[in-house]
Amino acid sequence: MARRLPVVGGNWKMHTTRTEARVLVAALRAELGGLPGAQVVVFPPSPWLGDVADALAGSNIEVGAQDVHWEPKGAFTGAISAPMLAGVASWVIVGHSERRHVFGETAEETNAKLRAVVAAGLRPVLAVGERREESDRTADVLRRQLDDGFRGFHGLPPEVVIAYEPVWAIGTGLAASPEDAQARCALVRSMLAERFGAPAADGCRIQYGGSVNAANIEGYAKQPDIDGALVGGASLDAAAFAAICRAVAAA
Ligand code: PGA
Repeated sequence: MARRLPVVGGNWKMHTTRTEARVLVAALRAELGGLPGAQVVVFPPSPWLGDVADALAGSNIEVGAQDVHWEPKGAFTGAISAPMLAGVASWVIVGHSERRHVFGETAEETNAKLRAVVAAGLRPVLAVGERREESDRTADVLRRQLDDGFRGFHGLPPEVVIAYEPVWAIGTGLAASPEDAQARCALVRSMLAERFGAPAADGCRIQYGGSVNAANIEGYAKQPDIDGALVGGASLDAAAFAAICRAVAAA
């Protein structure tokens, strides 16, 4: 099996002013512009997507959006469609736990967003993960989120990335242990294999996310079923994010 190229995402969430975004992306370009061995994607707030895309033009750092609406256009005040994003971004996070649990995104909406992203030729990062109170039934939660997310899909979209992010680990400093994260990512891969076949599952990149930082990344990066990380807080610090990307590339 060809080695999967790990992918590190930096999800800036609702952080950065326009000036801060420009400073951060310039620092990332300087640090990571030519990094071999890992794919790097930044997910800035949508008002800065154009600025960030311009600042990264000609580099190998890619740009993604944090969310999307499922309709291509229409009277949906405040929403942004996949065809709009296609002009400026190449990736979209779908089903992030904050969309699901803070904004009440339903399983049907996550599925509709995933379809819209794929239809627009964008690459999705589908985020899945259990809440603290679901820890005794993680496998059921992951299976349901994958089944619901891929409802209507007859094959695994070739460029899809799955981000396994236990909700209790996001933004808390309580990262999952590398062994637990590996076990969950392997479980996700086995579920993808059941549904889409082993070759598709073997080729699919699965990230770990949840309180990843420069000090703990190595433990995840060396696990066989973990193909990079989705990073929130630490992605706002150029030096920390660059260190994470380098550790993933070197693993
Ligand atoms: P965190 O966020 O790294 O701040 O825990 C991860 C995420 O939300 O993807």
